[in-house]
Amino acid sequence: MPDSEITLCTRLGIVHPIIQAPMGGGASSPQLVAAVSNAGGLGSLAAAYLSPQQIRDGIAEVRRLTDKSFNVNLFAGGYSGEDGAGATDASTMLAILRRHHLALGMPPPELPSALADPFPAQFDAILEARVPIFSFTFGIPAAPDLAKLKRQGALVIGTATTVDEACRLAAAGVDAVVAQGSEAGAHRGTFAGPFEMAMIGTMALVPQIVDTVPALPVIASGGIMDGRGIVAARALGAAAVQMGTAFLLCDEAGIPEAYKTLLVHAREDETKITRAFSGRPARGVVNSFMREVEHAGAAAIPPFPLQNALTRAIRNAAAQAGDVERLSLWAGQGLRLARRLPAAELVRRLVLENDATVGRLTATGN
Ligand SMILES: Cc1cc2nc3c(=O)[nH]c(=O)nc-3n(C[C@H](O)[C@H](O)[C@H](O)COP(=O)(O)O)c2cc1C
Repeated sequence: MPDSEITLCTRLGIVHPIIQAPMGGGASSPQLVAAVSNAGGLGSLAAAYLSPQQIRDGIAEVRRLTDKSFNVNLFAGGYSGEDGAGATDASTMLAILRRHHLALGMPPPELPSALADPFPAQFDAILEARVPIFSFTFGIPAAPDLAKLKRQGALVIGTATTVDEACRLAAAGVDAVVAQGSEAGAHRGTFAGPFEMAMIGTMALVPQIVDTVPALPVIASGGIMDGRGIVAARALGAAAVQMGTAFLLCDEAGIPEAYKTLLVHAREDETKITRAFSGRPARGVVNSFMREVEHAGAAAIPPFPLQNALTRAIRNAAAQAGDVERLSLWAGQGLRLARRLPAAELVRRLVLENDATVGRLTATGN
């Protein structure tokens, strides 16, 4: 391992430079987080959609299942409609949702009252739990918040989708940056500029960040599914990888069985970036709800977090019913390479594949 990888692994308290991505909506269950950390990688608990009490409980459960290092993740932004996109009038969306509510036997949807940013209370719960590692996306927490974490000795990781964002994160004093390529599953982390201009593939993004901010360890993320992808990311200068879609099919991943089955058969040309479910651009497998909402036009979709709140009841009901046509099927472009395995076995294979790939490249002298 190069020095940069050894240093980052040591600071993260892990053996292998493999991070299981935080995956909101229950996918990164405490069981998944602990299994990955116990296998020598870094498990990440997504806490953005959790209440402070759920965060406390989730962290306690992770700690019950592992004594190893782990990461907790929040959305550090996105609540003030800063990208300027989205409908100011939700009536078209409410009409669409009413039909789905009716079909699911639910009362009609209602416009929620003002949605407060949950970050401050969530962050307090995380501070109280004294976590070893904190990562964030959608923005940068305020300097005093980051300082509080640092005083506790926590390692702080931000998410960038452009070189400019990585520079801003470096200036804010993060310890490492996730370089999220456009192949990535779920929400774009973009926070400084229009997301359309920040659709940079992992292959192009990682080395440009590495070269521009050489002192900052870079964690490559987006489309990395197996040992070949890990070696490629390392060759580009990444000190570690963060993988989401690859872990979605693990036994411990907390997504509906119907979602897992669909992913087994889904192809790389079936995902799309959409605002249909949350109001914020995110990559998922196309289904009929996504098609219908997009057909209504971008101007009909309210911004995050309003659209996210409006579609929550349908998504929850669909998850219960295993209805993949109304679920947000977040997944990245590498989805054909996902494997149904227990998480520990996946980590073990990733390490073996990494070594075999390095051996193959060395043996052929290329
Ligand atoms: C289902 C799902 C949910 C995600 N939720 C979060 C999240 O809550 N916070 C976050 O920082 N990243 C989240 N991500 C993005 C990952 O951190 C990562 O960038 C992405 O999974 C990498 O691409 P890949 O899916 O091709 O591996 C999510 C990804 C998936 C697939």
